[in-house]
Amino acid sequence: MALQNFEFCNPTRIVFGKQTIQQLDKLIPEASKILIVIGGGSVRKNGTLDEVEQALGKRSFAVFEGIEPNPTFETAMLAVEKIRKENFDFVLGVGGGSVMDACKFIAGAVKYQGDTWDIVLSGGEKITQVIPFGFVPTLPATGSEMNSGGVISRKSTFDKLPIHSSLLFPLFSIWDPTKTYSLPKRQVANGIVDAFIHTVEQYITYSVNACVQDRFAEGLLLTLIEEGPKTLENPEDYEARANFIWAATMALNGLISTGVPSDWATHMIGHELTILYGIDHGQTLAIILPSLLNEMRNDKRSKLLQYGRRVWGIEHQDEEKIIDEAIAKTRAFFESLGIKTHLRDYGVDDSAVDKVVEQLQRHNLTALGERKNITPEVSRRIVEASL
Ligand code: NZQ
Ligand code: ZN
Repeated sequence: MALQNFEFCNPTRIVFGKQTIQQLDKLIPEASKILIVIGGGSVRKNGTLDEVEQALGKRSFAVFEGIEPNPTFETAMLAVEKIRKENFDFVLGVGGGSVMDACKFIAGAVKYQGDTWDIVLSGGEKITQVIPFGFVPTLPATGSEMNSGGVISRKSTFDKLPIHSSLLFPLFSIWDPTKTYSLPKRQVANGIVDAFIHTVEQYITYSVNACVQDRFAEGLLLTLIEEGPKTLENPEDYEARANFIWAATMALNGLISTGVPSDWATHMIGHELTILYGIDHGQTLAIILPSLLNEMRNDKRSKLLQYGRRVWGIEHQDEEKIIDEAIAKTRAFFESLGIKTHLRDYGVDDSAVDKVVEQLQRHNLTALGERKNITPEVSRRIVEASL
């Protein structure tokens, strides 16, 4: 099998390094009226917001505070209304993936005529114009800083759904690794796991002999395995943090998905666990992935063997043993970061199985995976094995 046809374009400018936030001055037009969007206040406490405000100089701006982790439609709509009423013409997200994803929805919803929830239900397809937006990310994990996707939740209806549109690439993202030093260990660990599983979802599928993508993916996984524990242990080790950040960005910016199949079933099942039980995104992935790899081991056989050999250096006569060990090492890696990998560790019992399957059916997520053969019955087995 050969590389599938593809088109690749990533228009986001990345500015990376210490003391780079001041470059906002060059990146945002002087006459802009800017709405800075932030989360629950971490960027106030760690000084990032101050630096952003200084860099904006005489530009007119206001701050919208209160985007929650797993950002909600309800809160994002408050920002949309503020922009409409007060005529802001630039959105600047300062925060983690939740802030960035909310900004993408906000930017696409401001000029949308009609019920803005339809944007989410359409998977982002209904977005036809956006107001310009850029980011100062503070949490390496989602890749939202350099991709065209986002995930929006609606608590009242138990929905957590992805949106995508080529209009949702940020104009720029300014990564100053020192602004991530204040992250709690749990968020750093979540970020390592999220970036790892983004890579896996685009790599452990079936082989199309994509030499470049495979070697890139293996490079990202090895970087996360090597640098992850260092950056978790020593948050202010600039070298390790910078390497982790760049791995997380590269894991989901479209590069390693060019011309190859991708899975995303772990993510879709994980989203249901977050909306039902409030489990962090990274944690849900660490719970689901090992059981999913085991359940799909025949379909994923050649890539699981490649992963075991090249990423974990496992050699055995018996190929089944290579796969078993690769999955065990993956789980042990997540656990070593402090991320528990069973539902019961989060106080969730077997009643979750029916609930998750019902949610997947309600969201038409009934043909998941790179071969679209993860039916609700298969998802059920995966969740059961994750208890
Ligand atoms: O809200 P604040 O006060 O800012 O605190 C946040 C939040 O409590 C805190 N934080 C962020 N930067 C910090 C910091 N605390 C101290 N110092 C800093 N520098 O961290 C907490 C978690 O933040 P959040 O943004 O929710 O985390 P993350 O970046 O992991 O984003 C998770 C969201 O992204 C979605 C997830 O589903 C979830 O909703 N995803 C988005 C993707 C995309 N756009 O491509 C792909 C991913 O697979 C993922 O689904
Ligand atoms: Zn993710």
